Amino acid sequence: MMTNISVLVSGRGTNLQSVIDAIENGDISGAKIVAVISDKKEAYALTRAKNHNIPGIFADPKSFSSREAYDDCLLDILKENKTDLVLLAGYLRIITGRLTLAYENKMINIHPSLLPAFPGLHAQKQALEYGVKVSGCTVHLVEPALDGGPVILQKTVPVLPGDTEETLAARILIEENKAYPEAVKLFVENKLRINGRNVTILE
Ligand code: GRF
Repeated sequence: MMTNISVLVSGRGTNLQSVIDAIENGDISGAKIVAVISDKKEAYALTRAKNHNIPGIFADPKSFSSREAYDDCLLDILKENKTDLVLLAGYLRIITGRLTLAYENKMINIHPSLLPAFPGLHAQKQALEYGVKVSGCTVHLVEPALDGGPVILQKTVPVLPGDTEETLAARILIEENKAYPEAVKLFVENKLRINGRNVTILE
């Protein structure tokens, strides 16, 4: 059985790349990226898709009258591509309930903080301003509440004296690029069991 993965992106796509690489080098087997969908025409993630012969689709939000209409279009694309798993990888738009519910427990996001701390934009800046000594990243299932779904994996990094938003973001990104393919592998191998807010990982 092949797990068909679609990835929603808006930007540079290092997390997308980490999953592409894990599939290509055999770390993840039984999965295929069937579509990379961007809400930004210039997203470098689309170039990454092209470089690996993965269909890249730019869906222009400006052509739609509402968030719901836009997400209906995304749903059509996901269904046309027989998508089993949706990955949000630096996708910057708010997702409507109809999309999250259509892919309940089959949509995963990565966020650059230890949730539930610092949801939303500029998570690394929020962490610095709060003064935490440890931060990191969270891979989680997507629910309608922003950055709110059950946690699959977290990885930590220290916050060091003199850190700027950029240095902290770079340290966290290294862990993100490990955590995302790890979580996708667990999903593809059917090793995640979801019980309310708790996700158990089978050995
Ligand atoms: C990452 O920090 C991710 O956690 C956040 O957006 C950023 C995307 O980076 N959601 P990239 O496009 O995957 O390089």
